[in-house]
Formats: sequence, structure tokens, C-alpha cells
Amino acid sequence: MPAQSIKRIGILTGGGDCPGLNAVIRAVTKTAIQDHKWEVFGIEDGFLGLIENRIHPLDWESVSNILTRGGTILGTSNKANPAKFATGTDAQGNPIFADVRDKAMKHYREHQLDAVVVIGGDGSMTCANEMTPLGFNCVGVPKTIDNDLMHTNITFGFQTAVEIATEAIDRLHTTAASHHRIIVVELMGRNAGWITLHAGLAGGCDIILLPEIPYDIGVLCEVCKDRMHKHRACTIVAISEGARPIDGKQTVMQTIASSPDPIRLGGVAHVLAKQLEMCSNIEARAVVLGHVQRGGTPCAADRVLATRFGHAATDLLSTGQLNRMVVIQGGQTKSVDISQVAGKQRVIQPDNELLRVARSVGTNLGY
Ligand code: F6P
Repeated sequence: MPAQSIKRIGILTGGGDCPGLNAVIRAVTKTAIQDHKWEVFGIEDGFLGLIENRIHPLDWESVSNILTRGGTILGTSNKANPAKFATGTDAQGNPIFADVRDKAMKHYREHQLDAVVVIGGDGSMTCANEMTPLGFNCVGVPKTIDNDLMHTNITFGFQTAVEIATEAIDRLHTTAASHHRIIVVELMGRNAGWITLHAGLAGGCDIILLPEIPYDIGVLCEVCKDRMHKHRACTIVAISEGARPIDGKQTVMQTIASSPDPIRLGGVAHVLAKQLEMCSNIEARAVVLGHVQRGGTPCAADRVLATRFGHAATDLLSTGQLNRMVVIQGGQTKSVDISQVAGKQRVIQPDNELLRVARSVGTNLGY
């Protein structure tokens, strides 16, 4: 599409909420209105709003004073993939899926949208990518506290989640030290250990367990006993919700059949705390931080990153670079084809510098 033909754009936020969503909505809307004289429309609840035709205009005032606000003023959904949308259930209670992309495209055309800024994670980028063959134009903005999108060094929301998790770990040290306990703190991140590795390092955790490195329960037990015998020291374990023992499985909290990504991880901290208490005879407690990590106001770094991403998204649209996602590579704002991101997850590689750094300060990584 020639750049000058963009006149009306939509914005949607998909997947789990994340600090900084409103900062992106604000940046896209204000830049679109001020620099490009485009009309802007908010699509409610992610792709669900496009399927159900819940689309309303956004003006300058509607995005004022939202920079610091958590969540998303547009609402979100992580169950609405137009290519595989749950329309009901069969006699056994299993979801029935239908391809409703034509319906979504009808509403896209009815509102005369030239493109949509899709703010989301790998699931939303997959939805967007599957819509493009039908004439859906988009630009992606990488959102997730998990920091697991391919081709970008960082996603907005991640740094806030690390700050929240680190503060929680700092506070847990007090109880662990006073009671000479093991405290196992579980952090989000799905199959990627970025939040746990960064918050675990920042919080000075003694053991850091990641989905990428299966742990040996025997080794962990010895580490805890050793610390207790030598210094009567407590042990703080940071564990990713997606971590698993050697020869064991991830701990699944819930399966949501109607969701394109049905597995919800959670609960491994409770399992591990019990095991460590049994084998070491040291009192142990589990703390699951959960959605607290996604809540509230974005930290300053995420506000800047979100604003930068929003501006970059409008830059792509104004230069006719469609169906791409903005990324940060080597500190620079760039973009990649959305198909390169769809359905993929960026996990911690074995040669990641922070793994070596953690080991060098005496942190055990589970083996
Ligand atoms: O992707 C963000 C995230 O918070 C993950 O870290 C977590 O596994 C998942 O979403 C939880 O999803 P829900 O909000 O559906 O429980």
C-alpha cells in the first residue's frame, strides 16, 4: 500500500495485559493525529472486538493521562484467534472452532481501516499474520512481560515485571533469614526464564531454576543443607513457572480448551518447597507471585520503550512498511516481517552471558 493512502488506523491490544500497553496506545494515537492527520479507532478486547464489531474512535483527549496507567483502556482477550475461534461446545463439552476471519475482515472494511496496530505477544502476531492473506494490513508492537518474542532484544512490560519481582524477593529475604527457612518464589514467563534469571540475579537468589535448564532435586537439597550447616543461612530459590526436574514434567495449573495457547503453568513452587522440606529437614515455604508481576504502573524504562515502539509503529505505517513488527536490536529501533515472529518463542540460550555471571557469584542453576 502506498504510504500516502493511510488515512484511518485501528489499534488493538491482544493477549495477557502488560504494563506499558496504554503508553503505546497513547504514543500511536497522538503521533497519528498530530504528525500524520490520520483518524484512529480503538478495537475493544483484541481480535474479539474485530470479530464482534466493537470499534470506536480515539481522539487526543481519550488517550491523555493514560501513560502511567496499568492494563489497557481498550481491553484485551487471549481467546480470540479469528482463524480458530471457539463458537461453542459439543456434547462432550469440547470447544467447537470456526474460521471467522471473513467476519473480522468485514468489520475492518466497514470502518474503512487502512491498517491496524497490533500490540501483542507471539499469539497476537500469529493472529495478525493469519489475517494478512485476506487483505488485513498491520504493524506489530512486541508486548509481553515474558520477553520471549523472537528478533527483539526486549519487549515492553518485561522491565516492570523484573522490578516487581525483585522487590518481592528483597522482602522475602527478611522472613527467610529470620526463620532460617527455604523460600521458593515462583515467577511467570511461560517457557522462557527471562524474568526469573533477571529478578533472581537482582534479588541475590541462591538458586535460580529456569525452564531452559532442568533441575536435579538431589543437588538442590544438598545446596540447601550445606548453606544451613555452614552458616545457618536461609536459601532463596527463584523458580520459573515453566521449570521442570530432570526426567520430569512442567507443572500445569489449568488447561483452557478454548484458548489458542491452552496450557496455564503454575504451582511448581509448592511442589518443590515440599520436596526440599522433606529431603533437607529445613522448613520451606512457597510464594507464587502470579499476576502481580503484570499489574500496575509501568516503570520509567518501559514507559520510554513503549513510547518509542508506538512512534516506530506509526513510522512504519507512514512509509508503507506493512505487516512488520517493530523490534529493538543492538539498541536500535528496527523492524522484521511479522511472519518471522508468529508462533515462535525466544528462550535463554546455553551461552547466555547472565548464566555464567550467576554461576560466578555462587548461584546454583539446578545442577
Ligand atoms: O504471557 C504472559 C503471562 O503472564 C505468562 O507469564 C503466564 O504464563 C500467562 O501469561 C498467564 O496467563 P493468564 O493471564 O491467562 O493466566
